[in-house]
Amino acid sequence: MRQMFTMIVECCENMVLALAHPTGQECEVKDLFVRFKNDIIASCAFGVRIKSFLDKQNVFFRYGKDLTDFGRLKVFLKMMGYQMFPTLMAWLEIDIFDRKHVQFFTDLFRRSFQEREQHGLCLIFFLAGFDTIATLMSFIVYEVTMTPEIQHRLYDEILQVSEALDGKSLTYDALQGMHYLDMVVSETLRKWPPAPSTDRQCNQDFMVTDERDNVEIIISKGGTVSIPIAGQHHDPKFYLDPDRFDPEQVKAIVYHLLLNFEFKRTDRTPVPVQLAKGFTPLRVENGIHRFDPERFNDENKHKIPLGAYLPFGIGPRNCIASRFALMEVKAIVYHLLLHYEFTRSERTPVPLKLAKGFISMKAEKGIYLHLSPRNAE
Ligand code: HEM
Repeated sequence: MRQMFTMIVECCENMVLALAHPTGQECEVKDLFVRFKNDIIASCAFGVRIKSFLDKQNVFFRYGKDLTDFGRLKVFLKMMGYQMFPTLMAWLEIDIFDRKHVQFFTDLFRRSFQEREQHGLCLIFFLAGFDTIATLMSFIVYEVTMTPEIQHRLYDEILQVSEALDGKSLTYDALQGMHYLDMVVSETLRKWPPAPSTDRQCNQDFMVTDERDNVEIIISKGGTVSIPIAGQHHDPKFYLDPDRFDPEQVKAIVYHLLLNFEFKRTDRTPVPVQLAKGFTPLRVENGIHRFDPERFNDENKHKIPLGAYLPFGIGPRNCIASRFALMEVKAIVYHLLLHYEFTRSERTPVPLKLAKGFISMKAEKGIYLHLSPRNAE
């Protein structure tokens, strides 16, 4: 883990240099992070050095993107086929992914891991990590842009660590001590889990009972159960919030005010009322959808019930790379925010709408943000 960390930090430092632009620039952040993730995988896993920012159409990037584009109709149909008729699909030898792409990465794995026999396992590693990290990164920068106070507080923590390191590169231990960064990443994983669902196949008949032990449903052996990770993360049963917009409360206030007072126009009453221009809040967010890292502070995080927070799944088949993923994402946030400030641009989606279809968590029309270098003056 520590050895990988050094390579990740090196990639982050290169990314900061590659993004350098004297006056700042608008960019679609998902595309940015997919390219960056591409360079990290290429160097950490395969020992190949590529620069996806400069060579925009390099073959590693193009094939990786195609391979992980689960929105393509062909891939969608094959995945549904495997969900519904796994034995038949396997018998017909239908592959989910295009042979050309699989062959490219398998050859690369073979050259990189000659001692390793299970190349198929390497491909799973590659697929699982390619999109999830870029997705998580794009939602983190979106949320901190939408709430500048959170971005400032995070920047303060990053700056403190950077000053303590006195010009040296980020260390693994320094990163582990960053509590606010951990809270922001955890809350993003709650609100926008990159893997919004997972599933399990039952290996024996299982009875689901209610609190009085009455059988509600029987899941038969061989049946597949879908686990709605995003659904759990947005369930008001688990994520209550006192700031929720409550129309009943407003009715009560109006009742008491008008019962006791009369309101009249004064010289300064604006007629007609004009709305403020600029970036004003466009919606009232309710408690569940509110981005609030405080849910994960030392006092609150232990109150979240088991099973209500599952960004990396649960049990013996949970994500094998959760620690690695968290380390990588935090290192990227550290380097980006240390050198750049994120602000809204005219194309920033507010509110953010998710793309529909059989794809991972993804903004409908991309996430455009503006990046300005902090040391521009
Ligand atoms: C933010 C990043 C990531 C998220 C949110 C994530 C999430 C998940 C989830 C929800 C599962 C299913 C777990 C379950 O069903 O209980 C999973 C499985 C898996 N993940 Fe990740 N993952 C991430 C990054 C990665 C990376 C970087 C790798 C590899 C380098 C990876 C490798 C795997 C593998 C191999 C499995 C299958 C484990 C098994 O079936 O035993 N993941 N991940």
